[in-house]
Amino acid sequence: MNIFGIETSCDETACAVVKDGRTVLSNVVYTQIPLHIPYGGVVPEIASRAHVEKIPEVLSAAMSAFRAAEPSGAIDAVAVTYGPGLSPALIVGLNAAKGLAAALRVPLFAINHIEAHLHTPFLRDAGDPPDDCALEDCFPALGLAVSGGHTNWFDLEDVGSYATIGQTLDDAAGEAFDKAAKLLGLGYPGGPVLDKIAKAYVPDAPFVPFPKGRPREGVASLAGLPAELCVSFSGLKTALLRYVEANPSVKYSDDGADGVEYAPGRRVSRRMAHVVASYQEAVVGAIVDRTRTALSRRPYRSLIVGGGVSLNSRLRSVLKDAADGAGVRLLLAKPKYCGDNAAMIAALAYFKRDFEGGAAMSLDVSPSLEIPSAAQGGGDNGGNC
Ligand code: KG4
Ligand code: ZN
Repeated sequence: MNIFGIETSCDETACAVVKDGRTVLSNVVYTQIPLHIPYGGVVPEIASRAHVEKIPEVLSAAMSAFRAAEPSGAIDAVAVTYGPGLSPALIVGLNAAKGLAAALRVPLFAINHIEAHLHTPFLRDAGDPPDDCALEDCFPALGLAVSGGHTNWFDLEDVGSYATIGQTLDDAAGEAFDKAAKLLGLGYPGGPVLDKIAKAYVPDAPFVPFPKGRPREGVASLAGLPAELCVSFSGLKTALLRYVEANPSVKYSDDGADGVEYAPGRRVSRRMAHVVASYQEAVVGAIVDRTRTALSRRPYRSLIVGGGVSLNSRLRSVLKDAADGAGVRLLLAKPKYCGDNAAMIAALAYFKRDFEGGAAMSLDVSPSLEIPSAAQGGGDNGGNC
């Protein structure tokens, strides 16, 4: 079964075709990042206009690549992200998907973006050697979604049966990286540049002791979730601001050739690199600490991680240690499927095709869509709308 996926929840216009929920036959992603760089973050109005402009081109490129991969193949269904995300951006993808499904006379599936990120480790490319990653062998799993808008831990009983067991109470991990990079004058998006700097830096001093992001027991924002599975990054960001105010040379000193070269011809001072590595360690440390706690609470078979922040090299390595320590299998996506893409949307739809597709033709976007919390008696997210 070939499903055509469309994703426009934030700043990527993406279309893809995936066979039987696993094999990516075409995958086209147009990133708007250059359009948002001057503003230091995603501007919803610019995002939605760029989606409107680019979607015809991205859609036909994905369709052409599919036809080249499977000349006699047909599209059996269309799947689209309907939330969470920016409302004016989601609307563009949803309308394109409705038009495509109507034109092809196939069902339309509405997919939750975060749930789709959790499915990315199962994506494979045509020609990849067969793997031993059968879905039924991976559940129950601990799910970790780490992106620009989310940091959540989930109990994943099976595909489509999820409950939130922990989350950030304020900023998401990607947001914590993006805001730190902005504060340090390192541009947007922050995660990739902080990752590169921290990797290039050879520590020559103990890390700055930034807060560990652990919320206090009993605060109302926990909404019934255990504090030991939740994280708060807002104090960390404030601590960075205070540190830079007290040590202005972090931002302005230039060590010239003695600085840290993190990309060809790109350098930062050693003090800046030291602060960046310390900050990254605090964010990654908080995520991994909560993950270890969650892994100790019940016998999972795997740890499934998705979202743009799962590209972080330090996070990938410490999550491996955590998974090995708990005796569970770590499932991470290939780097090209960690950020936003439509292959994950098309893939997940295959496993949720029992959903009444026709209803999606009259569906609206759901910008604040969440996966229900275990504390609120959530669990089965089956139909998802
Ligand atoms: O999943 P994603 O592409 O979009 C959302 O759904 O939000 O995630 C984007 C986020 C951004 O905040 C970006 O800074 C972060 O992922 N990111 C990283 C890395 N690459 C992207 N964060 C840390 N290290 C990276 N290497
Ligand atoms: Zn995403």
